[in-house]
Amino acid sequence: MDRLVLDPTGRDRDAETAELHARGPATPVDILGVKAWAVADPDVLEDLLKDPRVSKDPLLHWPDFAEVVPTWPLALWVSARNMFTAHGADHRRLRRLVGSAFTARQVGAMTVRVEQLTDGLLDDLAAAGPDAVVDLRERLAHPLPIRVIAELLGLPDDLQDRFRTRVDRVFDTTLTPEESAANAVEFYTMLDELIAAKRRAPDESMTSLLIAARDTDPDRPGPDGTGPGPGPDGTRPDNTGPGPDRSALTEEELRDTLLLIVSAGYETTVNLIDNGIANLLTHPDQLALVRAGKAGWDDVVEESLRRDAPVAHLPLRYAVEDIELPGGTTIPRGGAILAAYAAAGRHPARHGDGGADFDVTRPAKDHLAFGHGPHFCLGAPLARLEGRTALRKLFERFPALALAPHAALAPVGSLISNGHHALPVVLGDQAPQAPQAS
Ligand code: HEM
Repeated sequence: MDRLVLDPTGRDRDAETAELHARGPATPVDILGVKAWAVADPDVLEDLLKDPRVSKDPLLHWPDFAEVVPTWPLALWVSARNMFTAHGADHRRLRRLVGSAFTARQVGAMTVRVEQLTDGLLDDLAAAGPDAVVDLRERLAHPLPIRVIAELLGLPDDLQDRFRTRVDRVFDTTLTPEESAANAVEFYTMLDELIAAKRRAPDESMTSLLIAARDTDPDRPGPDGTGPGPGPDGTRPDNTGPGPDRSALTEEELRDTLLLIVSAGYETTVNLIDNGIANLLTHPDQLALVRAGKAGWDDVVEESLRRDAPVAHLPLRYAVEDIELPGGTTIPRGGAILAAYAAAGRHPARHGDGGADFDVTRPAKDHLAFGHGPHFCLGAPLARLEGRTALRKLFERFPALALAPHAALAPVGSLISNGHHALPVVLGDQAPQAPQAS
């Protein structure tokens, strides 16, 4: 089968999705020059995501790693050392360190704060007046998740915006290798600044907790950050077996864990909120169902995640051994695997011909937008909270909200990030505000 070259601009995702569906459970693709197997069939993908023969650690299981990384614009997606690129016991160790901050209980405690932040952003929007054209991606979808993550990590104000530029570029797959390498250098400089500032003045933030986890480790490696990471030959000790987990972090893992949380928290929920709004505004019949109480805001969130997975493609996984798929295709040992989450969400095997429809009353809204198995998204409860809060409050407060006349919803330039370049709307009059409780 000829290799499908994935479009780095994400310009025509519908056509690409149709092509991925037509090509069977796994198809050879080219991702900016890197060869991989894209898996779009949700049943096959779900099995692979929990299969112990599939790894996310490129140092251990991807023979092409050393050759690819120096020139691949997406290098940071595979080279950063955190839970996202770890396997087995290493993965469990790195995930456990931050997992407790994202449990349903912890996130429940953030509900009021997410509501306050949303109200504040809607107040700012309302000040623009009912007839003004405002970009809701810029004015709501972006700032809400950024402020939530900024509070969680204790980011100083000046770093919040600077991180945003960095994260935008991590998801921008149209950059040259040089531009993306320069972005990584700048991103790491800023992370080092953050770590140094928190070392000087620790607080209650997740950043300080992670630093404490590293700095109190009795086996902590030297200040150059070397230690139980990759050895001189570039390989890591195989720490993937059932033995005891190591307990703390290398300096590199600390920095890369912060990089992961900032990146995951900044861009993905933006797309959820953006797509949710766009879907309701382009499907007024569905909005009417929600307003009539025939579907809830959770239904809108789940259906948006299913129809428009905020992370369209996720690089990368690797076959630890030859893996034969249903239908006879074999992904060879060392082969790279791309989770095609956007195509999986609309797959005919689960949704017949109606996968592209936006239907908030669809009985089966199950999706893989947050992944599946050991790497299932840690931030899913938080993302869902932000999504339903932003959508509910926006549509309640601005009942006449509409897309701006002649608004063309162009995709953001990325094969990973699945949202719109901008979301211009006219707010219309506000609903009468409920009287304040005295
Ligand atoms: C709608 C919003 C979000 C979507 C669609 C999303 C999607 C995903 C996906 C697909 C994965 C699995 C990657 C894989 O295939 O291996 C993942 C992992 C992850 N996500 Fe999210 N994410 C969202 C929001 C968040 C937020 C708000 C945070 C935290 C601030 C977060 C933190 C993480 C982390 C730490 C991982 C790595 C988990 C691991 O490797 O064990 N995500 N996310």
